[in-house]
Amino acid sequence: MDKICIIDMGSQYTHLIARRVRELGVYSEILPNNIVVPELRKIHPKGIILSGGPSSVYDKDSPKLSDEFFQYILTENIPVLGICYGLHLIIYQMGGEIKQIDKKEYGKTELVIINKNELFNSLNQKEVVWMSHGDQIKSLPEGFEVLAQTSTCPIAAFKSKEFKVYGVQFHPEVIHTTSGKIILDNFVTKIAQAKKEWILGDWITKKVQQIKDTVGNNRVILGLSGGVDSSVTAVLIHQAIGNNLHCIFINNGVLRKNEELQVQKQFKEKLNFANFHYIDAEELFLEKLKSVEDPEEKRRIIGHTFIEVFESKTIELEKKTPGIKFLAQGTIYPDRIETAKTSKSAAKIKSHHNLTLPPNMKLKIIEPLKELYKDEVRTIGLELGLDKELIERHPFPGPGLAVRIIGAIDKEKLDILRDADEILLEEIRKAGIYEKLWQAFCVFLPLKTVGIMGDYRTYEYICSVRLVESLDAMTANFAKIDWNLLEKIATRIINEVKGINRVVYDISNKPPSTIEYE
Ligand code: XMP
Repeated sequence: MDKICIIDMGSQYTHLIARRVRELGVYSEILPNNIVVPELRKIHPKGIILSGGPSSVYDKDSPKLSDEFFQYILTENIPVLGICYGLHLIIYQMGGEIKQIDKKEYGKTELVIINKNELFNSLNQKEVVWMSHGDQIKSLPEGFEVLAQTSTCPIAAFKSKEFKVYGVQFHPEVIHTTSGKIILDNFVTKIAQAKKEWILGDWITKKVQQIKDTVGNNRVILGLSGGVDSSVTAVLIHQAIGNNLHCIFINNGVLRKNEELQVQKQFKEKLNFANFHYIDAEELFLEKLKSVEDPEEKRRIIGHTFIEVFESKTIELEKKTPGIKFLAQGTIYPDRIETAKTSKSAAKIKSHHNLTLPPNMKLKIIEPLKELYKDEVRTIGLELGLDKELIERHPFPGPGLAVRIIGAIDKEKLDILRDADEILLEEIRKAGIYEKLWQAFCVFLPLKTVGIMGDYRTYEYICSVRLVESLDAMTANFAKIDWNLLEKIATRIINEVKGINRVVYDISNKPPSTIEYE
């Protein structure tokens, strides 16, 4: 299959570039900036995009490309597009000059195309583009020509006269660049001539066959959380090997209300998974979490206890019928490819996957979704027949409600939080705004305040409502929803949930606050 490679220079948009290329129907892969030419040759990219990045080419430790890289692209005439820092790097390393500008240019700008060419095919002479840079090109090396300018940036795009080397100072991958998708399409399909072969329907057929070939008559074990990634992994593998897939779903005591019932219903009843093993380990988890206040300690305990329970069930299953040879995981592309900007979340999510099974049970890992982005996983999940509601679920942290109760947790607090959370989600869904929000949840604050109900004074806990909008959880804004809806949510929680007599709305953005409270 034709591939476009994106070399990561540390931009927060690196994954976005890769996703945009895939949206065009062409497979894309992210590579680190220290990739060596023999590796690149093996991958055989149809074209290469150099991402932006926060550095200046004059910084001592800023990412650079090797001389061999430039020899490779020039001798083999590989199409290259540099974006922002990627553009600076091409010019700097090929003999041109970059200069610092006094004021960083940030935001929407008008681009004037002064030299019609294939990169800007089908564009108007003037286009709105998104800029974010502190350096810009001062002079081009021999053999390059200017394609476009803005009022403050005289060389906002260039091309090599002889080679297929291009650069843009602006970001075509962000939606604010109105014709960004056309520019990327011009590069990917016209200049690099990559074929549009990335079709998710075909992907399912191929992947199912691949799983069958890999697994044969052996059995596979999978820890199912009920989240999108592990659910889609389960359905895909089930389609390939049927009941040779064993799913283990552990109730860790910090799930949302009725979650354990919903997940069982989906897999046991709707999808007919014969080997779906539900383990109610609520008591064990809560016992271990008793009086633990530190959030990282809560995370550690939940992670370790999960492994403990999962392993002991796996050993039990293996004793009953030997033949478990594979461990499936719901790893997706951004979990695996840690660009400079995603490493924190990637590290967090994968923290509980280090199994320590006995040596005679060394399991091989299969990660069928490892090259997919979340939106692609969702599309595949829907095609495989998973409920839309499950596919569109908001992200839910691995340590669950344990990090939504400040300080020590117990069953009483968890039940209060579950009841409040259920009301919130019900109202958010009823109002039709669930899909617009990144996350919607309640947080239990272990502080008691005075209230009045009927003729009685009450002394109960506070519930904080957190509704956020975000694209990738790196930044988030609190949602400015209708006051009447907020009032309805607060009134219902106070009236219906015993233990809460006050609801507050969290109006903090990220940064500087985080989405979760612990
Ligand atoms: P923060 O709170 O850092 O969260 O703004 C960013 C995103 O990550 C989720 N999150 C977690 N997910 N294990 C997870 O699997 C965790 O320990 C964890 N902590 C935060 C959070 O829900 C948000 O989507």
